[in-house]
Amino acid sequence: MTGSSVERALEILRNGGLVAIPTETVYGLAGDASNEAAVRRIFAAKGRPADHPLIVHVAAAEQLGEWAASIPPAATVLAQICWPGPLTLLVPKAAHVLSVVTGGRDSVGIRVPAHPLTTELLTRFGGGLAAPSANRFGRVSPTTAVHVVADLGSRVDYVLDGGACPIGVESTIVDCTTDPPQILRPGGIGTEEISALLDGTLANAHGPSRAPGMLASHYAPNATVLLANSASEAATIVGDTPGAWILDHSDDLVSYAHSLYAELRAADDRGVAVIVAVMPAAHGLGHAIRDRLSKAATR
Ligand code: TXA
Ligand code: MG
Repeated sequence: MTGSSVERALEILRNGGLVAIPTETVYGLAGDASNEAAVRRIFAAKGRPADHPLIVHVAAAEQLGEWAASIPPAATVLAQICWPGPLTLLVPKAAHVLSVVTGGRDSVGIRVPAHPLTTELLTRFGGGLAAPSANRFGRVSPTTAVHVVADLGSRVDYVLDGGACPIGVESTIVDCTTDPPQILRPGGIGTEEISALLDGTLANAHGPSRAPGMLASHYAPNATVLLANSASEAATIVGDTPGAWILDHSDDLVSYAHSLYAELRAADDRGVAVIVAVMPAAHGLGHAIRDRLSKAATR
């Protein structure tokens, strides 16, 4: 069922059910982070491996201390300036945080999303909501209620419809448990902005991904995705591939991010076999778009 009743969503969550929630990035599939059965239902609904941890969403930055065993200085700075917003902070987990949420890790990802309906929901709920993106495992994230229903159907008890997600790509994940902190996933807040807030003390994640589920061919549509570095290169590729779709908003990163997943889904809905995507410049939101397109192109 889809609607915009925060009351209904609250009732379901308090009873251990699952609600898809709108955020400024993508829709999340939320359950009570302190209810082990609810969290297990999230993994089952998505078809997600148990060792891929979930982000805990809370109403306000002041709640970070309720979920963290200690708060690293970088987390204090970033939480204060960037929340509510498209940023997830990894911090050492407090003892009560369920290991089913963290995939057995000793860190937990926390985020304060910026969407009026979800802020109201979280404020009234009081606790934390564990929520991965509300797609079936391996599919692109949903940015509308219609996408959620298409992927999850009756596996979700209620879809809280907050319209299309304004940003359109997932949050930036910063691991604050290492010194210097590392960006594990580029996202809605640009790397340059985070780095500036931390006075340049930021390392890029290297070696095997420290955030499970971000190396494989994730975010992949059914269509084959080919990457081009410019509009003219894309035109050349399409010339050799009749029927291919061009995906290119590289002149406007905000609209590229906003429409990216909807366009990948639309191409699949229409049975498009090949998408030729133009890579945007590597700054601001461009990092996240390049990351998702590269993954969409991985087979
Ligand atoms: O914008 C977002 O972040 C959305 C909205 C719904 O908040 N959520 C989202 O969740 O993208 P999900 O589960 O699809 O992606 C979270 C990523 C996963 O790759 C997970 O492995 C990683 O974050 N992650 C979460 N907690 C972690 C932890 N404690 N250590 C390492 N990686 C973690
Ligand atoms: Mg996801």
